[in-house]
Amino acid sequence: MSSLSGDVGGLRLENPLILAAGILGTTGASMRRVALAGAGAVVTKSVGLEPRNGHPGPTVVRLGVGLINAMGLPNPSYRAFQDEIDIAREGGVPVVASIFGSCPEEFAEIASALDVDGFELNLSCPHAGGYGMEIGCDPANVEEITRAVRRAVNVPVWVKLTPNVTDIRVLGIAAQRGGANAVVAINTLKAMAIDVESGYPILGNVIGGLSGPAIKPVALRCVYELSGVLEIPVIGVGGVSCWQDAVEMIMAGAAGVQIGTALMGGLEVIRDITSGIIRFLDRKGWSLEEIRGIARRRG
Ligand code: DOR
Repeated sequence: MSSLSGDVGGLRLENPLILAAGILGTTGASMRRVALAGAGAVVTKSVGLEPRNGHPGPTVVRLGVGLINAMGLPNPSYRAFQDEIDIAREGGVPVVASIFGSCPEEFAEIASALDVDGFELNLSCPHAGGYGMEIGCDPANVEEITRAVRRAVNVPVWVKLTPNVTDIRVLGIAAQRGGANAVVAINTLKAMAIDVESGYPILGNVIGGLSGPAIKPVALRCVYELSGVLEIPVIGVGGVSCWQDAVEMIMAGAAGVQIGTALMGGLEVIRDITSGIIRFLDRKGWSLEEIRGIARRRG
């Protein structure tokens, strides 16, 4: 039987399927459940310096093709989050803390304070004034923030990038220069929805981020482009809902694959995807290494 274990962005994982930041990453108990359901690693909901309530509701719109959210980075502050990380670790897989801030010093302060297996720098939330993509669209910021965290900690540092730019490769190169162990692509695509009966935008914040099946081809293109120019691994995320989606990400060059919105249909999807990949590799007589980036070589 094919093995799915290997190194993903500086972490040794039993399989490359990782809980994406946000969905189910708010409590230690939910992350532990995802780990026990078969994920190779889990990423927390993003935490920042101070507690935040997030945006006014409604914060989520469900569409046929995915989901638009404008949560607005609600979190209890990193100071209240170590307990959740410790509970998540009982799941027996690496726990990566997603963190956000407004400047390199803030990121470094948060990272130095948390005991965790790795960090994912959220430089890409599409609707959080002063945070996220507002700073993460500038390659100089990406490089400086990555370097500040890299110097502050001794665990792997991943950088989550925004697709809401002309050329995501420029951001990936900046993260690599700053010393990132991996980039994660992509965060959500800027989006909105309108209620036609009233004419009102549905989300309290008007603008949100689109996730789910609609963005998978965009995520795939970003992984393909990034893995073509970077030496560091690329972790693919965006609309992965079945094993074929995960295989596509790996074929585009992804070292790991994150899953978020699809978990709303139940945690069984994790084992469906990992067992689907194993069956596929066995049927083709290929290893995970052999298919990684195969579309790059054939495209
Ligand atoms: O779509 C997103 N929503 N991306 C993030 O990075 C954060 C999240 C939120 O809290 O709004």
